[in-house]
Amino acid sequence: MTAIDRDAAKAFQKRIVRVREDAALGLLLGIGDELGLLDVLARTGPTDPATLAAAAGVDERYLREWLDGIVAGDVATYDAVTGHYALPAERAACLTPSGGPVNLARSLKMLTMLAGVEPELRERFRDGGGLGYDSFPRFHELMAEDAAAVHDAGLLDVVVPAVPGLHDLLTRGAALADVGCGAGHAVNLLARAYPASSFVGFDLGTEPIEAARAEAAAWGLTNTRFEVRDVAALGEESAYDVVTAFDAIHDQAFPDRVLAGIATALRPGGTLLMVDVKAQSGVENNLGMPWLTYLYTLSLMHCMTVSLADGGAGLGTVWGRQVAVRMLEEAGLADVDVLEIRSDPFNYFYVAHKPAATAATRSR
Ligand SMILES: C[S@@+](CC[C@H](N)C(=O)[O-])C[C@H]1O[C@@H](n2cnc3c(N)ncnc32)[C@H](O)[C@@H]1O
Repeated sequence: MTAIDRDAAKAFQKRIVRVREDAALGLLLGIGDELGLLDVLARTGPTDPATLAAAAGVDERYLREWLDGIVAGDVATYDAVTGHYALPAERAACLTPSGGPVNLARSLKMLTMLAGVEPELRERFRDGGGLGYDSFPRFHELMAEDAAAVHDAGLLDVVVPAVPGLHDLLTRGAALADVGCGAGHAVNLLARAYPASSFVGFDLGTEPIEAARAEAAAWGLTNTRFEVRDVAALGEESAYDVVTAFDAIHDQAFPDRVLAGIATALRPGGTLLMVDVKAQSGVENNLGMPWLTYLYTLSLMHCMTVSLADGGAGLGTVWGRQVAVRMLEEAGLADVDVLEIRSDPFNYFYVAHKPAATAATRSR
């Protein structure tokens, strides 16, 4: 047997014990977000478990075990004299809905949900193929929650102003289509802010489209509509001034067809805003990114596998900027600009244009 560096082996073992601790803590925090326990703990201040259990509407015995777990994980504090548990405000800021897009407990909840497909996924490792959206019954609900927090925090005040000319265009009145719109919150926010423009959201899923329509109706919007449609077969020509895609290209089965369809659907000079995961192409170019393993896990357990399920490309969440720009250009889009936006450190904002009509095209 080859000699091993015992110190290195010990240090690594310590690290993996830490991984196990953090993975366990992640499960607890995900449960805490699902049941509103973290929020109750933050809002109530130092309190005993019975009061917390009543406020959260949960069983006290379960709550105590959970509380001790997150004390062990150095998230909550415990005062053995008073028997009170508390969640300091500095920690609540990234663990409760008050944190908006930086409520990280929400993404831990997403991981727990994805772990539910692990037995089926192991079969796909052996046999290939993928797991379609039907294998993830809660995906749309959790995605909608996450996306709403991100869009509420920055879509109108930060993202739109960052895209040259977009605010003025939408103010004057433009036609915008959102591909892979999910539960449509982005579309509804835009439609409410820009009443002179008209908006349509397309998604494969009936459930998110119904949620999108319900929100539009609740807000009394008359300039928005939502359709169940496969955007790989968009089938529209020169119909829109703007197309948006929020986190909806890398998990497509046929992203090349979707981008080509968008290029056709845009009017000459029209704009595509594609918001997609901030990464470079190639794992070696991303090392050191603090959430890189998380991205690959999301990809393996959702984004890549849903694409493969349809016999698709399986680009993966970390397709990266270089591949994205190349695919935009191959689709016939031009002047690709890659913006970074402070309200959303997880994404690149690709802005590309359909070339304006040439004299030859115009005279036809
Ligand atoms: C990661 S989610 C993003 C949803 C939404 N844009 C948001 O930010 O909340 C990707 C969405 O694309 C939709 N989708 C995937 N392939 C599609 C296709 N070929 N046609 C239409 N929608 C599709 C999925 O149903 C899902 O709602």
